[in-house]
Amino acid sequence: MITVREIAGPNELEICRALRRTVFIEEQNVAEAEEWDGRDGDARHILVFVGDTPVGTARLRTVGTLGKIERVCVLAEARGSGAGRALMRFALDRMQADPDLTGAKLGAQTHAIPFYESFGFEAYGPEYDDAGIPHRDMQVHF
Ligand code: COA
Repeated sequence: MITVREIAGPNELEICRALRRTVFIEEQNVAEAEEWDGRDGDARHILVFVGDTPVGTARLRTVGTLGKIERVCVLAEARGSGAGRALMRFALDRMQADPDLTGAKLGAQTHAIPFYESFGFEAYGPEYDDAGIPHRDMQVHF
């Protein structure tokens, strides 16, 4: 069964960071200095589990009146079974429940644009390089 929740404390932030290390640094070759950008302390972190096993994470920040969803990842061996979708649904539900937020934005790796479009996000602006990976900005209004 897939479940999603916010981390319970600093120990679980280390689980999030281990998942991000596996996906972004080891699989996608993102530089350590780019992955550890100093903003983890300003964010809420969420975990997705298959049974009792954490398989993915994301972090949520607020930028003005928009929620920003960052570092969305699911371990390769757990992909394609709905964990990523559950993670995004949870993040968006949390943000939509916040009366101060008018929408959400994210920087999407271009391969994942169709994934985010399925939640109503629309791409805008030019493609750009972030950590050696092509990205486009995307936004959804609540
Ligand atoms: N491109 C296009 N469609 C994708 C996709 C991709 N890269 N990844 C998932 N999808 C689709 C799936 O086919 C599925 O469609 P369906 O519901 O119609 O069957 C849907 O999106 C959700 O799939 P799900 O199984 O919930 O997603 P996942 O657990 O595989 O997680 C990612 C999706 C993007 C989080 C995962 O592929 C991942 O961690 N990739 C590596 C890190 C990464 O690129 N993160 C994005 C940073 S912007």
